[in-house]
Amino acid sequence: MHKSKIAGIGMYVPSHVVTNNDLLKYMDTSDEWIQERTGIKERRYAHRTEETTTTMGVEAAKIAIERAGLTAQDIDFIVFATICPDYYFPGCGVLLQRAMKMKDIGALDVRNQCSGFIYSLSVADQFIKTGMYKNILVVGAEKHSFGLDFSTRGRNISVIFGDGAGAVVLQPTEDPGSGILSTHLHSDGANAEILAMFNPGTHANHWANGEKLADFEDAEVGEMFMSHAMIDKAQNFPNMDGPAVFKVAVEKFPEVIMEALHSNNLQTSDLKLMIPHQANLRISQFVQRKLKLNDDQVYNNIQKYGNTTAASIPIALCEAWEQGKVKEGDLVCLAAFGSGFTWGSALLRW
Ligand code: ACO
Repeated sequence: MHKSKIAGIGMYVPSHVVTNNDLLKYMDTSDEWIQERTGIKERRYAHRTEETTTTMGVEAAKIAIERAGLTAQDIDFIVFATICPDYYFPGCGVLLQRAMKMKDIGALDVRNQCSGFIYSLSVADQFIKTGMYKNILVVGAEKHSFGLDFSTRGRNISVIFGDGAGAVVLQPTEDPGSGILSTHLHSDGANAEILAMFNPGTHANHWANGEKLADFEDAEVGEMFMSHAMIDKAQNFPNMDGPAVFKVAVEKFPEVIMEALHSNNLQTSDLKLMIPHQANLRISQFVQRKLKLNDDQVYNNIQKYGNTTAASIPIALCEAWEQGKVKEGDLVCLAAFGSGFTWGSALLRW
Protein backbone atom coordinates (compact mmCIF):
# COMPACT_ATOMS: atom_id res chain seq x y z
CA MET A 1 0.00 0.00 0.00
CA HIS A 2 1.22 3.48 -0.87
CA LYS A 3 1.23 6.32 1.62
CA SER A 4 -0.01 9.68 0.43
CA LYS A 5 1.66 13.05 0.76
CA ILE A 6 0.73 16.65 0.11
CA ALA A 7 2.56 17.52 -3.12
CA GLY A 8 1.18 21.04 -3.52
CA ILE A 9 -0.84 23.50 -1.46
CA GLY A 10 -2.63 26.76 -2.27
CA MET A 11 -5.04 29.26 -0.77
CA TYR A 12 -7.23 32.10 -1.90
CA VAL A 13 -8.96 34.78 0.13
CA PRO A 14 -11.02 37.60 -1.39
CA SER A 15 -9.42 41.06 -1.36
CA HIS A 16 -12.34 42.70 0.47
CA VAL A 17 -11.41 43.06 4.16
CA VAL A 18 -14.29 43.52 6.63
CA THR A 19 -13.25 44.69 10.08
CA ASN A 20 -15.27 44.22 13.26
CA ASN A 21 -16.08 47.93 13.18
CA ASP A 22 -17.43 47.54 9.62
CA LEU A 23 -20.10 45.18 11.04
CA LEU A 24 -21.44 47.89 13.37
CA LYS A 25 -23.50 49.35 10.54
CA TYR A 26 -25.58 46.15 10.34
CA MET A 27 -25.89 44.97 13.95
CA ASP A 28 -25.46 45.82 17.59
CA THR A 29 -21.97 44.48 18.35
CA SER A 30 -18.51 45.80 19.14
CA ASP A 31 -14.90 45.25 18.15
CA GLU A 32 -14.16 44.62 21.83
CA TRP A 33 -16.82 41.86 22.19
CA ILE A 34 -15.74 40.09 19.01
CA GLN A 35 -12.02 40.19 19.80
CA GLU A 36 -12.47 39.20 23.44
CA ARG A 37 -14.83 36.26 22.72
CA THR A 38 -13.36 34.98 19.44
CA GLY A 39 -9.99 36.62 18.73
CA ILE A 40 -11.27 37.77 15.32
CA LYS A 41 -10.17 41.23 14.11
CA GLU A 42 -11.28 41.03 10.51
CA ARG A 43 -12.48 38.62 7.86
CA ARG A 44 -12.74 38.59 4.05
CA TYR A 45 -15.99 38.71 2.07
CA ALA A 46 -16.18 37.45 -1.49
CA HIS A 47 -17.33 39.78 -4.24
CA ARG A 48 -21.10 39.55 -4.09
CA THR A 49 -21.65 38.63 -7.73
CA GLU A 50 -18.26 37.84 -9.24
CA GLU A 51 -17.01 35.24 -6.77
CA THR A 52 -18.57 31.99 -5.60
CA THR A 53 -17.46 29.14 -3.37
CA THR A 54 -16.35 27.28 -6.50
CA THR A 55 -14.45 30.17 -8.10
CA MET A 56 -12.51 30.70 -4.87
CA GLY A 57 -11.81 26.96 -4.78
CA VAL A 58 -10.53 27.18 -8.36
CA GLU A 59 -8.08 29.95 -7.43
CA ALA A 60 -6.68 27.93 -4.53
CA ALA A 61 -6.57 24.78 -6.67
CA LYS A 62 -4.59 26.49 -9.46
CA ILE A 63 -1.82 27.32 -6.97
CA ALA A 64 -1.82 23.85 -5.37
CA ILE A 65 -1.67 22.14 -8.78
CA GLU A 66 1.12 24.39 -10.02
CA ARG A 67 3.14 23.86 -6.83
CA ALA A 68 2.75 20.10 -7.31
CA GLY A 69 4.31 20.55 -10.76
CA LEU A 70 1.12 19.42 -12.49
CA THR A 71 -1.58 20.79 -14.75
CA ALA A 72 -5.34 20.52 -14.24
CA GLN A 73 -5.33 17.71 -16.83
CA ASP A 74 -3.18 15.54 -14.52
CA ILE A 75 -5.76 15.51 -11.69
CA ASP A 76 -7.62 12.21 -11.55
CA PHE A 77 -10.11 12.83 -8.71
CA ILE A 78 -11.68 15.82 -6.95
CA VAL A 79 -12.91 16.02 -3.37
CA PHE A 80 -14.64 19.33 -2.57
CA ALA A 81 -15.69 20.21 0.99
CA THR A 82 -18.12 23.06 1.64
CA ILE A 83 -21.29 24.03 3.43
CA CYS A 84 -21.87 26.99 1.10
CA PRO A 85 -22.36 25.26 -2.26
CA ASP A 86 -23.02 27.39 -5.35
CA TYR A 87 -26.13 25.26 -6.02
CA TYR A 88 -28.17 23.03 -3.71
CA PHE A 89 -27.24 20.46 -6.32
CA PRO A 90 -25.09 19.60 -8.23
CA GLY A 91 -22.13 20.13 -5.96
CA CYS A 92 -19.10 22.39 -6.34
CA GLY A 93 -16.87 19.47 -7.45
CA VAL A 94 -18.36 19.32 -10.92
CA LEU A 95 -18.40 23.11 -11.25
CA LEU A 96 -14.69 23.14 -10.47
CA GLN A 97 -14.09 20.28 -12.91
CA ARG A 98 -15.82 22.34 -15.62
CA ALA A 99 -14.13 25.63 -14.73
CA MET A 100 -10.66 24.04 -14.72
CA LYS A 101 -11.33 22.09 -17.94
CA MET A 102 -10.35 18.83 -16.27
CA LYS A 103 -10.92 15.38 -17.75
CA ASP A 104 -14.22 13.62 -16.92
CA ILE A 105 -12.80 12.46 -13.60
CA GLY A 106 -14.83 11.68 -10.48
CA ALA A 107 -15.89 14.62 -8.33
CA LEU A 108 -17.07 14.07 -4.77
CA ASP A 109 -18.66 16.72 -2.56
CA VAL A 110 -18.24 16.42 1.20
CA ARG A 111 -20.75 17.98 3.62
CA ASN A 112 -19.00 17.78 6.95
CA GLN A 113 -18.95 21.40 8.02
CA CYS A 114 -15.86 22.39 10.02
CA SER A 115 -14.34 18.93 9.76
CA GLY A 116 -15.03 18.78 6.00
CA PHE A 117 -11.38 19.17 5.05
CA ILE A 118 -10.15 16.44 7.43
CA TYR A 119 -12.87 14.08 6.14
CA SER A 120 -11.94 14.93 2.54
CA LEU A 121 -8.25 14.41 3.16
CA SER A 122 -9.00 11.06 4.76
CA VAL A 123 -11.14 9.94 1.78
CA ALA A 124 -8.43 11.03 -0.67
CA ASP A 125 -5.78 9.27 1.44
CA GLN A 126 -7.66 5.96 1.17
CA PHE A 127 -7.92 6.27 -2.63
CA ILE A 128 -4.15 6.89 -2.88
CA LYS A 129 -3.33 4.04 -0.50
CA THR A 130 -5.26 1.53 -2.56
CA GLY A 131 -3.58 2.77 -5.74
CA MET A 132 -6.86 3.84 -7.32
CA TYR A 133 -5.77 7.45 -8.00
CA LYS A 134 -2.43 9.26 -8.27
CA ASN A 135 -3.20 12.99 -8.21
CA ILE A 136 -6.18 13.94 -6.06
CA LEU A 137 -7.27 17.54 -5.64
CA VAL A 138 -8.79 18.24 -2.22
CA VAL A 139 -10.52 21.61 -1.83
CA GLY A 140 -12.19 23.35 1.11
CA ALA A 141 -14.02 26.58 0.24
CA GLU A 142 -16.80 28.72 1.70
CA LYS A 143 -18.74 31.85 0.75
CA HIS A 144 -20.43 32.41 4.11
CA SER A 145 -21.07 36.10 3.53
CA PHE A 146 -23.93 35.26 1.15
CA GLY A 147 -26.07 33.43 3.67
CA LEU A 148 -25.74 34.99 7.13
CA ASP A 149 -28.22 36.97 9.19
CA PHE A 150 -26.62 40.40 9.38
CA SER A 151 -29.19 41.76 11.83
CA THR A 152 -28.57 41.82 15.59
CA ARG A 153 -30.61 38.60 15.81
CA GLY A 154 -27.84 36.69 13.98
CA ARG A 155 -24.82 38.41 15.52
CA ASN A 156 -23.57 35.42 17.53
CA ILE A 157 -22.93 33.63 14.23
CA SER A 158 -22.44 36.26 11.54
CA VAL A 159 -19.47 37.97 13.24
CA ILE A 160 -17.58 34.67 13.30
CA PHE A 161 -17.64 33.55 9.68
CA GLY A 162 -15.49 34.59 6.74
CA ASP A 163 -14.95 33.56 3.12
CA GLY A 164 -11.99 31.83 1.50
CA ALA A 165 -10.57 28.64 0.03
CA GLY A 166 -7.67 26.26 0.42
CA ALA A 167 -6.56 23.29 -1.65
CA VAL A 168 -4.01 20.51 -1.67
CA VAL A 169 -2.86 17.93 -4.20
CA LEU A 170 -2.37 14.48 -2.71
CA GLN A 171 0.01 12.00 -4.36
CA PRO A 172 1.52 8.62 -3.50
CA THR A 173 4.94 8.67 -1.87
CA GLU A 174 7.59 5.97 -1.92
CA ASP A 175 9.20 7.40 1.22
CA PRO A 176 7.80 5.35 4.13
CA GLY A 177 8.79 8.05 6.64
CA SER A 178 6.79 10.90 5.08
CA GLY A 179 3.20 11.70 4.19
CA ILE A 180 -0.10 11.12 5.97
CA LEU A 181 0.55 8.79 8.92
CA SER A 182 -3.10 8.37 9.92
CA THR A 183 -6.51 10.03 9.93
CA HIS A 184 -9.21 9.68 12.62
CA LEU A 185 -12.86 10.50 11.99
CA HIS A 186 -15.77 10.73 14.46
CA SER A 187 -19.37 11.81 14.71
CA ASP A 188 -22.14 12.10 17.29
CA GLY A 189 -25.51 13.20 15.95
CA ALA A 190 -27.13 13.43 19.39
CA ASN A 191 -26.81 17.22 19.25
CA ALA A 192 -27.19 17.77 15.51
CA GLU A 193 -29.62 20.68 16.05
CA ILE A 194 -27.26 22.65 18.32
CA LEU A 195 -25.38 23.97 15.31
CA ALA A 196 -27.36 23.62 12.12
CA MET A 197 -29.06 25.29 9.21
CA PHE A 198 -32.43 23.55 9.01
CA ASN A 199 -33.86 25.12 5.89
CA PRO A 200 -34.14 24.51 3.03
CA GLY A 201 -34.50 20.84 3.92
CA THR A 202 -36.87 17.88 3.96
CA HIS A 203 -37.08 17.50 7.75
CA ALA A 204 -40.79 18.52 8.01
CA ASN A 205 -40.12 19.31 11.70
CA HIS A 206 -39.56 15.60 12.26
CA TRP A 207 -36.53 16.08 14.53
CA ALA A 208 -37.83 19.23 16.16
CA ASN A 209 -38.80 17.74 19.53
CA GLY A 210 -41.93 19.88 19.86
CA GLU A 211 -40.15 23.01 18.66
CA LYS A 212 -40.81 24.27 15.12
CA LEU A 213 -37.72 24.36 12.92
CA ALA A 214 -39.75 25.55 9.94
CA ASP A 215 -43.14 27.08 9.11
CA PHE A 216 -44.61 25.43 6.04
CA GLU A 217 -47.30 26.72 3.70
CA ASP A 218 -50.74 25.13 4.02
CA ALA A 219 -50.72 23.09 0.81
CA GLU A 220 -51.58 19.58 -0.30
CA VAL A 221 -48.22 18.95 -1.95
CA GLY A 222 -44.92 20.80 -2.16
CA GLU A 223 -44.35 24.18 -0.43
CA MET A 224 -42.29 22.54 2.28
CA PHE A 225 -38.77 22.93 1.05
CA MET A 226 -38.68 26.73 1.21
CA SER A 227 -41.75 28.77 2.07
CA HIS A 228 -42.48 32.49 2.34
CA ALA A 229 -43.19 31.95 6.04
CA MET A 230 -39.72 30.53 6.60
CA ILE A 231 -38.17 33.61 5.06
CA ASP A 232 -40.50 35.95 6.98
CA LYS A 233 -39.51 34.24 10.23
CA ALA A 234 -35.77 34.16 9.40
CA GLN A 235 -35.70 30.37 9.50
CA ASN A 236 -33.30 30.28 6.55
CA PHE A 237 -30.19 31.12 8.56
CA PRO A 238 -27.76 28.98 10.58
CA ASN A 239 -28.56 28.44 14.27
CA MET A 240 -25.97 27.90 16.97
CA ASP A 241 -25.92 27.42 20.71
CA GLY A 242 -22.36 28.77 20.94
CA PRO A 243 -21.58 27.93 24.59
CA ALA A 244 -22.85 24.33 24.12
CA VAL A 245 -20.64 23.88 21.04
CA PHE A 246 -17.68 25.44 22.86
CA LYS A 247 -18.00 22.97 25.75
CA VAL A 248 -17.81 19.87 23.54
CA ALA A 249 -15.17 21.36 21.20
CA VAL A 250 -12.62 21.86 23.99
CA GLU A 251 -13.11 18.22 24.99
CA LYS A 252 -12.98 16.63 21.51
CA PHE A 253 -10.07 18.62 20.02
CA PRO A 254 -7.48 17.35 22.56
CA GLU A 255 -9.00 13.87 22.47
CA VAL A 256 -8.69 13.47 18.70
CA ILE A 257 -5.19 15.01 18.60
CA MET A 258 -3.99 12.55 21.27
CA GLU A 259 -5.70 9.72 19.40
CA ALA A 260 -3.59 10.56 16.32
CA LEU A 261 -0.36 10.79 18.33
CA HIS A 262 -0.98 7.60 20.33
CA SER A 263 -1.85 5.61 17.19
CA ASN A 264 1.61 6.43 15.88
CA ASN A 265 3.47 6.03 19.20
CA LEU A 266 4.24 9.74 19.25
CA GLN A 267 3.75 12.48 21.83
CA THR A 268 2.95 16.18 21.91
CA SER A 269 6.66 17.07 22.18
CA ASP A 270 7.19 15.43 18.76
CA LEU A 271 4.80 17.89 17.13
CA LYS A 272 6.32 20.67 15.07
CA LEU A 273 2.95 22.23 14.43
CA MET A 274 -0.67 21.68 15.38
CA ILE A 275 -3.19 23.36 13.12
CA PRO A 276 -6.65 23.43 14.64
CA HIS A 277 -9.73 24.33 12.64
CA GLN A 278 -10.10 28.06 13.21
CA ALA A 279 -13.42 28.18 15.08
CA ASN A 280 -12.53 30.49 17.93
CA LEU A 281 -9.12 31.64 19.21
CA ARG A 282 -10.27 30.84 22.76
CA ILE A 283 -10.91 27.21 21.76
CA SER A 284 -7.41 26.96 20.21
CA GLN A 285 -5.81 28.51 23.29
CA PHE A 286 -7.72 26.15 25.57
CA VAL A 287 -6.53 23.14 23.54
CA GLN A 288 -2.96 24.45 23.54
CA ARG A 289 -2.98 24.81 27.34
CA LYS A 290 -4.55 21.39 27.86
CA LEU A 291 -1.91 19.71 25.67
CA LYS A 292 0.88 21.89 27.09
CA LEU A 293 1.99 22.98 23.61
CA ASN A 294 4.33 25.97 23.14
CA ASP A 295 3.14 29.03 21.23
CA ASP A 296 5.30 28.07 18.24
CA GLN A 297 3.68 24.60 18.09
CA VAL A 298 0.22 26.01 17.29
CA TYR A 299 -0.78 28.01 14.21
CA ASN A 300 -3.75 30.39 14.36
CA ASN A 301 -4.90 32.92 11.78
CA ILE A 302 -8.56 33.35 12.76
CA GLN A 303 -7.64 36.93 13.68
CA LYS A 304 -7.40 37.76 9.94
CA TYR A 305 -9.96 35.49 8.34
CA GLY A 306 -12.60 34.48 10.91
CA ASN A 307 -13.98 30.95 10.73
CA THR A 308 -13.82 29.80 7.11
CA THR A 309 -15.17 26.33 8.00
CA ALA A 310 -13.94 23.72 5.46
CA ALA A 311 -11.34 26.18 4.17
CA SER A 312 -9.77 27.10 7.50
CA ILE A 313 -7.29 24.21 7.83
CA PRO A 314 -5.89 24.30 4.28
CA ILE A 315 -5.62 28.11 4.46
CA ALA A 316 -3.76 27.91 7.78
CA LEU A 317 -1.53 25.06 6.58
CA CYS A 318 -0.73 26.96 3.40
CA GLU A 319 0.18 30.13 5.29
CA ALA A 320 2.30 28.20 7.80
CA TRP A 321 4.14 26.46 4.96
CA GLU A 322 4.65 29.75 3.07
CA GLN A 323 6.10 31.29 6.26
CA GLY A 324 8.61 28.42 6.58
CA LYS A 325 6.91 27.04 9.69
CA VAL A 326 6.49 23.61 8.09
CA LYS A 327 9.56 21.99 6.55
CA GLU A 328 10.46 18.56 5.22
CA GLY A 329 10.41 15.97 8.01
CA ASP A 330 8.23 18.06 10.37
CA LEU A 331 5.38 16.35 12.21
CA VAL A 332 2.09 18.23 11.69
CA CYS A 333 -1.29 17.51 13.25
CA LEU A 334 -4.50 18.88 11.70
CA ALA A 335 -7.63 18.73 13.87
CA ALA A 336 -11.22 19.88 13.52
CA PHE A 337 -14.51 19.91 15.37
CA GLY A 338 -17.86 21.28 14.27
CA SER A 339 -21.51 20.92 13.43
CA GLY A 340 -22.90 17.40 13.47
CA PHE A 341 -21.09 17.02 15.74
CA THR A 342 -18.26 15.71 13.59
CA TRP A 343 -14.60 15.85 14.46
CA GLY A 344 -11.34 14.39 13.24
CA SER A 345 -7.58 14.64 12.97
CA ALA A 346 -4.83 13.91 10.48
CA LEU A 347 -1.21 13.36 11.43
CA LEU A 348 1.37 13.90 8.75
CA ARG A 349 5.12 14.01 8.26
CA TRP A 350 5.84 16.83 5.78
N1 ACO B 1 -21.81 41.13 19.78
C1 ACO B 1 -22.17 41.51 21.01
N2 ACO B 1 -22.82 40.68 21.87
C2 ACO B 1 -23.09 39.45 21.45
C3 ACO B 1 -22.74 38.99 20.15
C4 ACO B 1 -22.07 39.90 19.31
N3 ACO B 1 -21.66 39.57 18.07
N4 ACO B 1 -23.13 37.72 20.02
C5 ACO B 1 -23.72 37.36 21.18
N5 ACO B 1 -23.69 38.41 22.04
C6 ACO B 1 -24.20 38.48 23.41
C7 ACO B 1 -25.28 37.44 23.68
O1 ACO B 1 -26.52 37.95 23.28
C8 ACO B 1 -25.17 37.27 25.17
O2 ACO B 1 -25.83 38.36 25.80
P1 ACO B 1 -26.63 38.12 27.19
O3 ACO B 1 -25.59 37.65 28.14
O4 ACO B 1 -27.17 39.48 27.47
O5 ACO B 1 -27.66 37.08 26.88
C9 ACO B 1 -23.68 37.45 25.45
O6 ACO B 1 -23.14 38.13 24.31
C10 ACO B 1 -22.94 36.14 25.66
O7 ACO B 1 -23.30 35.25 24.61
P2 ACO B 1 -22.67 33.81 24.50
O8 ACO B 1 -23.22 33.14 23.30
O9 ACO B 1 -22.75 33.12 25.83
O10 ACO B 1 -21.12 34.18 24.27
P3 ACO B 1 -19.85 33.28 24.24
O11 ACO B 1 -18.82 33.83 25.12
O12 ACO B 1 -20.18 31.81 24.37
O13 ACO B 1 -19.32 33.49 22.73
C11 ACO B 1 -19.32 32.30 20.67
C12 ACO B 1 -20.13 33.13 21.66
C13 ACO B 1 -18.19 33.16 20.16
C14 ACO B 1 -20.23 31.91 19.54
C15 ACO B 1 -18.74 31.04 21.38
O14 ACO B 1 -19.74 30.41 22.12
C16 ACO B 1 -18.15 30.03 20.43
O15 ACO B 1 -17.18 30.28 19.74
N6 ACO B 1 -18.69 28.83 20.38
C17 ACO B 1 -18.16 27.73 19.56
C18 ACO B 1 -18.42 27.98 18.11
C19 ACO B 1 -17.86 26.84 17.31
O16 ACO B 1 -16.84 26.25 17.61
N7 ACO B 1 -18.55 26.46 16.27
C20 ACO B 1 -18.12 25.29 15.54
C21 ACO B 1 -17.64 25.63 14.25
S1 ACO B 1 -18.87 26.31 13.18
C22 ACO B 1 -19.41 25.03 12.11
O17 ACO B 1 -19.22 23.85 12.38
C23 ACO B 1 -20.22 25.43 10.95
